[in-house]
Amino acid sequence: MKKEIGIGLLGFGTVGSGVASVLQQHQEDLTYKLGVPVKIRRVLVRNLHKERNTDLPQELFTDSLDDLLNDESIDIMVEVFGGMEEARVAIEQALQAGKGVVTANKDVMAVHGRDLLVLADRNGCDLFYEASVGGGIPLIRTLEDGLASDRITSLLGIINGTTNFILTKMKHEKKTYAEALEEATALGFAEADPTADVGGIDAARKMAILASLSFSEEVQLDDVYVRGMEAIEDGDLELAEQFGYTVKMAGSAKKDEQGVEVAVEPVFFPNAHPLASVNNEFNAVYVRGAAVGETMFYGPGAGSLPTATSVTSDIVAACRNLLLGVNGKRVHSYQYERKTKTDEQKSARYFHRIAVRDEIGVLARLSAIYSKNGASLATVIQHPNPAREDADLIFITHTISRKQHLDVLEELTTAPEVNGVLSHYRIEGD
Ligand code: HSE
Repeated sequence: MKKEIGIGLLGFGTVGSGVASVLQQHQEDLTYKLGVPVKIRRVLVRNLHKERNTDLPQELFTDSLDDLLNDESIDIMVEVFGGMEEARVAIEQALQAGKGVVTANKDVMAVHGRDLLVLADRNGCDLFYEASVGGGIPLIRTLEDGLASDRITSLLGIINGTTNFILTKMKHEKKTYAEALEEATALGFAEADPTADVGGIDAARKMAILASLSFSEEVQLDDVYVRGMEAIEDGDLELAEQFGYTVKMAGSAKKDEQGVEVAVEPVFFPNAHPLASVNNEFNAVYVRGAAVGETMFYGPGAGSLPTATSVTSDIVAACRNLLLGVNGKRVHSYQYERKTKTDEQKSARYFHRIAVRDEIGVLARLSAIYSKNGASLATVIQHPNPAREDADLIFITHTISRKQHLDVLEELTTAPEVNGVLSHYRIEGD
């Protein structure tokens, strides 16, 4: 029986320092739950001379990964320095050295997750990654264990704290995009390179992880259709409000007999939809199961301590397995062949905002493009645009295929009376 469990911490940034503080502040409770204390043995950092606000003794810090790999008192490596190749190699080496790994790294898990999980199994180690998705929300464990009895059919949610924070501040406090992004960065929500957040890639990685796990089918990052916040045009948030909607960066994944579709994009939610009132850095995900129906998970999606809580819970899970001698005993192969839907097989309602010349007959001519493509319209409204000489035409469709949506937009783009397709959104939850 082990007397103590040793942790090697790889990284001491926003999440790493949070993990150190959760382990320290909850030491007594963790020791009670596990029966043995959990201690940080070494901390890997890039710059040994950087000033750090921590109670951890300076001699624990090193800039050599080998110091951690060769330290036999380290049982579990906690990778929280982020990024891709360096982190992937460190995880691989840790597993090859027979150490369990806990990671918050969605970049690595979205692309190399399956290979690393198989490697972990082969080495009799655990590889846990709860903090890679949804910050402090225990989503991965819920999908793996809590809903293990069900067959998941769809996921819909807000899974990037930074973009949700920005949209909330823009809508409710009338902040500019730049001001809100700066604030999200200062609060430690954004990635080291925030273009991953605002461009939707961070959420796409999370969706690839969640969808693969939920559907037991390989969902590659390239399978995720991604549109970032740059698709949101000036005036769209206000326009959405006038029509009773709220714009959110949302992730969605659906599976039916035709295949899987996964997307990350700005979406219109009716104001009464629960996801419309998920604000700031909070995340929320609806998980629909064939038997359970709809469940919703909500909590802080980014930030030091919430993310550190998920990491530390993974440490607890790995410690329990270690004490029971059952590490690396999970099934990591996929049950189903990868099968993605075509654009003809995907369907949704859409909101199109088109800048047009304000002339007689324009509305009728453009509406004809929809009927020609078999796209049924629910609402057509002309909206004067005082900032420009022209007008905005708003088309809201009934449910149409994504192919019809794209074909209509293409035709509209080249129509002589159209000055530009300003923006377009999928409508969810009507
Ligand atoms: N940058 C991420 C977000 C951090 O804003 O959601 C949590 O994964």
